[in-house]
Amino acid sequence: MREQRYNDVAAVILAAGLGTRMKSRLPKVLHQLAGRPLLGHVLAALQPLGLGQTLVVVGHGAEKVQAYADAHWQGTRYAVQEQQLGTGHALMQAAAQLEGEPGIKTVLVLMGDAPLITTDSLAQLIEAQRESGANLALLTAEAANPYRYGRIVRDSVERAQVLRIVEEKDANAAERLISEINTGIYAIDAAWLWQHLPQIAPSPRSGEYYLTDLLQMAAHAGKVAAVELGASGYAEAIGIDERVKLAEAEATVQQRLRRELMLAGVTMPDPATVYLHMDVQIGEDTVILPGTFIEQGTVIGRDCEIGPNTRLRGATIGDRVRITASYVEDSIIEDDVDVGPFCHLRGGTYIEAHAHLGNFVEMKKTHFGSASASGHFSYLGDATIGRHVNIGAGTITANYDGTPNKKQTTIEDGAFIGVDTMLIAPLHVGKEARTGAGAVVRRDVPPGYTAVGIPARNLPPKDSDEC
Ligand code: UD1
Repeated sequence: MREQRYNDVAAVILAAGLGTRMKSRLPKVLHQLAGRPLLGHVLAALQPLGLGQTLVVVGHGAEKVQAYADAHWQGTRYAVQEQQLGTGHALMQAAAQLEGEPGIKTVLVLMGDAPLITTDSLAQLIEAQRESGANLALLTAEAANPYRYGRIVRDSVERAQVLRIVEEKDANAAERLISEINTGIYAIDAAWLWQHLPQIAPSPRSGEYYLTDLLQMAAHAGKVAAVELGASGYAEAIGIDERVKLAEAEATVQQRLRRELMLAGVTMPDPATVYLHMDVQIGEDTVILPGTFIEQGTVIGRDCEIGPNTRLRGATIGDRVRITASYVEDSIIEDDVDVGPFCHLRGGTYIEAHAHLGNFVEMKKTHFGSASASGHFSYLGDATIGRHVNIGAGTITANYDGTPNKKQTTIEDGAFIGVDTMLIAPLHVGKEARTGAGAVVRRDVPPGYTAVGIPARNLPPKDSDEC
């Protein structure tokens, strides 16, 4: 990515609209692609440009939109559009804040629901406006299905000049056949904008203030530049107004993410079945098998084999780890561990190196020591388990007695927990202690002792003097 600084550019993201067609209680710009809200994608595309200001016009669901941006994108400013009277009206709300601000030469207008625009295309648009000296430069794309987008009307002779933009609802039959669409993204000379923005009048047909009227004003003066998106064209320009388009955009993002990872050395035998979130990290020579979801905050090391049918969320995974058909959330797994099939590692679990978790193991807030093993069917919650511990099939830490505070279990190094053991927490099992098959252990087991029976009795080590 090119590092650029456009200190004299202010971005305005229009994000106040109702998003009626989404049929949702969530503001449209907070719907997600690859685990990140649409608005976040737009803000991420802007970040490398180093703009002077970034301002989001909020309206519908303003508090939620603002709370998201405040939490993730420091320095974002807001303008409130109380009534959604059109894109021109939305920009007027931002103008009230930006006009007169020293040092802003260009205003970059973006749509909060057009999340796939790239940093490179935005830089190209700013450059086009500057190099041509145009009052307004716009970004256009070719759409196979231009339905509901504004169409670009060019002069009939050379088709070089953009004359105006006509909205779907205002277009005649011939205009509706035009496949070049308005992306809604513009770079506008700031001084010219402050002068001309107040001249937008409400559309006689819809009553909306069309931002696109600015284009006609600039065209009259012969000062319009158009940047046509290249091969990525429509995929980059997509404006999301309903959930079918949301899914189309998701497919594009997933393709981009998989490609980046494969080029960085990750193997995916069937990439179309791998679902990724933004910002996940995966090391070289790791293989992601089909049906695998790698979500928010996950970092995976080198030479791992993840999947098939695995979900990782907030997981930190070391090198040479194998995870088969399992779900790991907000947990850490060190190097050379194997997990699954059918394990569920819930929040706060930490697995040390060389551990083995076999079939149907559930853990929660559990620290599992190096080279320890839990091969089959167990629940280990709120437990601290040492090194070289063997957890027999069917072992349960009974950590919940109906009161809010879960009870802790500690098992020291080298302990051997027999099959079907119930460990009634709070409980401490000493170093190299053992439990017999089916024991229900209510009392702490001293180091080297064996707990047997229901409720379990503690038997001293065989070489002990105790009887
Ligand atoms: C607009 C363009 C159209 C273009 C399309 C690209 C106008 C008049 N038309 O269509 O040429 O092809 O975008 O997607 O500009 N918004 C507000 N306040 C409002 C209305 C909209 O903030 O009062 C925001 C929405 O939240 C959304 C964006 O503007 O993020 C686009 O809104 P939408 O209603 O989809 O755009 P159109 O006007 O239909």
